[in-house]
Amino acid sequence: MGKHKTSGVYFVSNDRAIEMTIAFLNSFRKYNPGISLCLIPFEDNYFQLERLKDKYKFSIFSEQELLSMCDDISRQFHGRTMGALSGTYKEDYREGFGPLLEGFSFVPYNNIEKMEAAVTDNTAGIILELVQGEGGINIADKEYISNVRKLCDDKGIIFIVDEIQTGFCRTGKFFASEHYNLNPDIMTAAKGIAGGFPIGATLCSDKINMPIGKHGTTFGGNPLACAAAIAAIDFMTENKLCEQAEKKGNYFVAKLKRENLSKVIEIRNLGLMIGIELKEKVKPYLQELLDRKILALPAGLTVIRLLPPATISTEDLDVVASNLIQVLK
Ligand SMILES: Cc1ncc(COP(=O)(O)O)c(C=O)c1O
Repeated sequence: MGKHKTSGVYFVSNDRAIEMTIAFLNSFRKYNPGISLCLIPFEDNYFQLERLKDKYKFSIFSEQELLSMCDDISRQFHGRTMGALSGTYKEDYREGFGPLLEGFSFVPYNNIEKMEAAVTDNTAGIILELVQGEGGINIADKEYISNVRKLCDDKGIIFIVDEIQTGFCRTGKFFASEHYNLNPDIMTAAKGIAGGFPIGATLCSDKINMPIGKHGTTFGGNPLACAAAIAAIDFMTENKLCEQAEKKGNYFVAKLKRENLSKVIEIRNLGLMIGIELKEKVKPYLQELLDRKILALPAGLTVIRLLPPATISTEDLDVVASNLIQVLK
């Protein structure tokens, strides 16, 4: 294992990949000076809490538990590896993949009273998405997030933010945390890092005690993935993709909101993370959109989710908007 420490960044990786990892970290930090997190291990498999259990000053998995979010309409999703799945509420995802990890409790989203009531002496941390992607494009209230941060600080527990879907310009900022002036204690990132090439990362503040050499992974610091990430991050910055995502998202949503769309309850967005909540199930509408050559995903049963690339042209946005208007009138 290689061991390096540079200006407050500790990381662990395989020797052969160390140069690319350094380059990636420098690239990452150059463009994200506002986020006071350090990238520690490289996670090719996204977020695997069960593998990180020995690494924190907070001994998450001894007798302790994590709080994750869920209620009837807003559902947290953290992925399909075992640890992440254990923190994901929806039965459809969990069914058939046991045994899952114990120690997760679920509390309603955007509800600080319920969260405060759920925190016990055994609570090690709270994990949430700032915009629930799979769960319905539910956007966390600013006051709620600042109260969660305060609760974590007061109780000495860690605040974990899953930025796997919200990260890398999607919401109009490099990370959604920036909308909230939030410094998480742990942040997960993946998806957009390398423009589609598979790579993920877990970032930790210096509250987290990560002994050098304790963690690793076969593809950690993979040179090709790091090179793709460096190129993608450079591209995002040079082409101001965050600003583009914000402008394009607001332009597109304003266009839809001007129409009287009889099937729609609400349109929510943060940048180009867009949810259109319908009065009925979305499945037939998704098919109709597909027939018109527009690919959209559901988020829950009644929300159409649109996650276009930040590079999408205004012309393409107009085509999608006009088709949506015809389908949802
Ligand atoms: C918020 C969030 N976390 C984590 C993941 C990773 O999921 P998976 O492990 O299924 O790739 C996703 C994927 O959609 C996601 O949206």
